[in-house]
Amino acid sequence: MLNFQFHTPTEFVFGRGTENLAGELVKKYGGTKVLIHYGGGSALRTGLYDKTVKSLEAAGLKHVALGGARPNPVDTLVYEGIELARREGVDFILGVGGGSAIDSSKAIAAGVPYEGDFWDFFAEKASPAKTIRLGCIVTLPATGTEGSDSAVITRSDGMLKRGMNSRFNRPLFSIMNPELTFTLPPWQTASGIADMMAHIMERYFTNTRHVDVTDRLGEALLTSIVNQAGIVMREPENYDARAEIMWAGTLAHNNLCGVGRETDFSVHKLEHELSAKWDVTHGAGLAALYPAWMQYQMPQNPMRLAQFAARVFGAEMNFEDPTVTAWDGIRRLAAFYTSIGMPVNLRELDARIGKSDIPELVAKVRRKKDGTVGSFRPLAEADLKNVFELAFDWKP
Ligand code: NZQ
Ligand code: ZN
Repeated sequence: MLNFQFHTPTEFVFGRGTENLAGELVKKYGGTKVLIHYGGGSALRTGLYDKTVKSLEAAGLKHVALGGARPNPVDTLVYEGIELARREGVDFILGVGGGSAIDSSKAIAAGVPYEGDFWDFFAEKASPAKTIRLGCIVTLPATGTEGSDSAVITRSDGMLKRGMNSRFNRPLFSIMNPELTFTLPPWQTASGIADMMAHIMERYFTNTRHVDVTDRLGEALLTSIVNQAGIVMREPENYDARAEIMWAGTLAHNNLCGVGRETDFSVHKLEHELSAKWDVTHGAGLAALYPAWMQYQMPQNPMRLAQFAARVFGAEMNFEDPTVTAWDGIRRLAAFYTSIGMPVNLRELDARIGKSDIPELVAKVRRKKDGTVGSFRPLAEADLKNVFELAFDWKP
């Protein structure tokens, strides 16, 4: 196991009716004037926005609002939010919605006190030294942004999608009411499930040895997600299943399962280029890449893939030839994706994607300093091309 520091200061406030505590929580953390930042309108339609305003007013807090954060949020609205917050003397940002509205809130919170261009943080030219206080009300279990130290924004000029990691990105509080997820369309529910599974798998496929505790935590989360997924897809208003999925999504990405080990995150880097160019849903993009990535990476450590297959999907372990078990696991994962309506290759993901787009995708993928992507078996230029090509029409 590697050395690590793990600090998750977020107060999670979970359960029915918790959105009504927004005002009290903002006050508790010292906010006096709040910017409510939300998405394309679901918060208005469901009545969550009105409840939030009521709760802030009951706590004697002033507020301004900015809607319009779209899926795969863009920099232009972040600039607008920074301007608005400065002009209005806002001292607290409350993100209301899915990962996009909350990530956009994180970028605004970092940008307000910064004299330069907030994009510097995403271009790795600077790190935030301080940010405005931030809390959120989550309506989509997927990204884990409610507990994560990351935010992901797309720069409209050149459609570059980039992440920024900072301890300031962890919200002071996150309100999580599973009932708020009842209105999610099936596609978003399923994409969220694929995303949270990917967050665990990006950490699971590692070369670090002696990480049994975090392996088992990840496997438990994955198994629970797979078990509950069928229920939430069939019964969108099943509170208990929604609650299990929601909490799993947080634990999948607050790094509980990533500490003490080298993590990979190459599939995320590849996917970000798909959602930047075609605006596809992030989780669906991950599902379309994972089977091919696992197949390509099998030679690196067939036993680790076989362990995943056996412990998460109940595949029978073939000790003489773990590649047999590993293959079984890839097929079972793909069948699971199909069962919840997720794609298993790029063709299924979006008909606009062509093989001729692959060189451009490869060119844009964010590399490490040594030019490769990921760490399980780092992907060099030729590997990136091979994985995209394999994913193009991957079949079980
Ligand atoms: O915009 P509104 O009208 O709110 O509608 C949204 C949007 O259309 C809708 N929605 C959300 N909650 C709803 C709802 N509709 C009905 N009822 C509800 N309760 O769902 C659609 C998708 O929302 P979005 O916020 O885009 O989805 P998600 O939460 O999956 O966020 C995706 C973004 O987060 C990034 C992704 O790359 C993508 O940009 N990620 C952020 C991470 C992080 N900060 O840690 C990690 C992830 O790996 C990911 O990269
Ligand atoms: Zn993700």
